[in-house]
Amino acid sequence: MLLLLRLLRLHLLLGLVLGALSSHAQKCRLVPRQQVHLGSTNPQGPLSGGNNDTVASSTSVQPSQTSSSSASASATPSITPFNYGKDIIRGVNLGGWFVLEPWITPSIFENTNNSDIIDEYTFGQMLDEDYALDVLQNHWATWITEDDFVAIKAAGLNHVRMQIGYWSVPLTSADTNFTTSVAPYVPGAWPYLLRALGWARAHGVHVILDLHGAPGSQNGFDNSGRRGNANWAQGSSNVNRTLDVIRFLAEQIGGMIDVLEVLNEPAGYQSDIGGIIAGYWQDAYDVVRAAAGSSLKVMIGDAFLGVAHWDGFMTGSSAQGVLMDYHEYQVFNYNQLAFDDNDHIGSSCSVLSQLQSYASQNLFTISGEWSNAVTDCAKWLNGRGVGARWDGTWQPGQQVFGSCDGWSGNMSSFSDDYKMFLRKYWESQVAIGEAVQGWIFWTWKAENADDWSYQRGLEGGWIPQDPTDRMYPDICS
Ligand SMILES: *[C@@H]1O[C@H](CO)[C@@H](O)[C@H](O)[C@H]1NC(C)=O
Ligand SMILES: *[C@@H]1O[C@H](CO)[C@@H](O)[C@H](O)[C@H]1NC(C)=O
Ligand SMILES: *[C@@H]1O[C@H](CO)[C@@H](O)[C@H](O)[C@H]1NC(C)=O
Ligand SMILES: *[C@@H]1O[C@H](CO)[C@@H](O)[C@H](O)[C@H]1NC(C)=O
Ligand SMILES: *[C@@H]1O[C@H](CO)[C@@H](O)[C@H](O)[C@H]1NC(C)=O
Repeated sequence: MLLLLRLLRLHLLLGLVLGALSSHAQKCRLVPRQQVHLGSTNPQGPLSGGNNDTVASSTSVQPSQTSSSSASASATPSITPFNYGKDIIRGVNLGGWFVLEPWITPSIFENTNNSDIIDEYTFGQMLDEDYALDVLQNHWATWITEDDFVAIKAAGLNHVRMQIGYWSVPLTSADTNFTTSVAPYVPGAWPYLLRALGWARAHGVHVILDLHGAPGSQNGFDNSGRRGNANWAQGSSNVNRTLDVIRFLAEQIGGMIDVLEVLNEPAGYQSDIGGIIAGYWQDAYDVVRAAAGSSLKVMIGDAFLGVAHWDGFMTGSSAQGVLMDYHEYQVFNYNQLAFDDNDHIGSSCSVLSQLQSYASQNLFTISGEWSNAVTDCAKWLNGRGVGARWDGTWQPGQQVFGSCDGWSGNMSSFSDDYKMFLRKYWESQVAIGEAVQGWIFWTWKAENADDWSYQRGLEGGWIPQDPTDRMYPDICS
């Protein structure tokens, strides 16, 4: 009965969202690209009901009747539940899909001809609304497709971690007492997310849905949607509004995902955020349990405070089914950029022991973001228009490590020695996750930053086709 109600609500919701897509199409029906997008299917037509297990084929480019029925079909638990804490999570992030990042898809930003557009917020703010929606819809439909889910499964991976911004979650005034306006963000990703959840189910890939952007921004990084200040904890309205978003996600798609990560990388080092984050984790947990029952896992993060900060937190009767997310990068400060190859490996191995010690007494723990990069050379990694520490283009008067040539971008510029190192470094970081409950690489693909791309690593040979293959099995012992 609960499931039926959930399906019914989902259908109603899809009806609303697709209706909105369609009114947009009517508004700009003279734009040829829109007509191509909406194609021959009528998004206002009746949604087929029931449990249609047939998944939309990868040739359908727009969420439609077909894909919405596949999305709802995926509410049927047809995938074997993952045994968290026993089975090892091996996965990739689908970065830059539902939350834009200038360094992952620089072309989207370059094509605006406006260097003031530095994140998804300014993308919505400074562009014509129809143009912005058109570009985003094209991106949502093409950046990750069903073929990617097939390739991820074929690479021996069992999880994806999918990012979503609050502005893509279609709350109505029945779901929140705060505004339902997300302007200047451009909403519309929701049906694409639902379709993706159907693909994940169909191909046996488990999903961690990660709220990556909260109102006010929880960290001021462009990957929260808005670069600048982290205003999430100024007053209580953004935090309370975020809980409404979490409730909506748990109610609407709690049965279609395995784990709900209730906020990515809040800046716990900032006193206002550090002061409320533990309370937020507990409140968000309570909201998920009230809305979705006990089987959906809840993920929290260390909020840059280190996992040891969270010793004893949510371990007793106050919570069950909670996972801890830890992120590991070695490229965002000068000390780590100065590391030689062995220092990088040694640093990974020291993280392993810290996480293992925490996980053995506390929450199931995941190394939820890490990459193969050992420089910050990927173009715009530090923000659109911002240079790299590595080659001295970030700030004057700082240590310079050398040219960025051959470190990022196209792997055709990577030396054999570098690729050998990338393999070793990959294994040292996989060792971290394998020592606890798992690992998730950042990220599946990037337009032109192959040191950050799992897909390119597979092609270039520094990531093995079978993620349990080891060239350096004792790397951390
Ligand atoms: C399920 O959807 C597919 C694609 O629209 C369709 O071909 C098929 O007939 C549907 N199956 C059922 C049982 O409705
Ligand atoms: C950016 O400039 C190019 C070349 O002049 C032009 O074709 C394109 O339409 C411009 N894009 C926008 C969003 O104005
Ligand atoms: C909105 O406010 C009303 C009246 O105070 C309250 O009953 C309701 O639970 C609130 N809704 C949400 C989603 O917080
Ligand atoms: C946020 O929620 C807390 C706890 O329910 C409440 O005390 C506070 O007034 C709320 N703040 C706003 C702005 O709604
Ligand atoms: C990478 O470089 C190769 C060789 O120059 C080229 O064929 C390929 O298209 C480039 N890939 C990308 C994504 O630019």
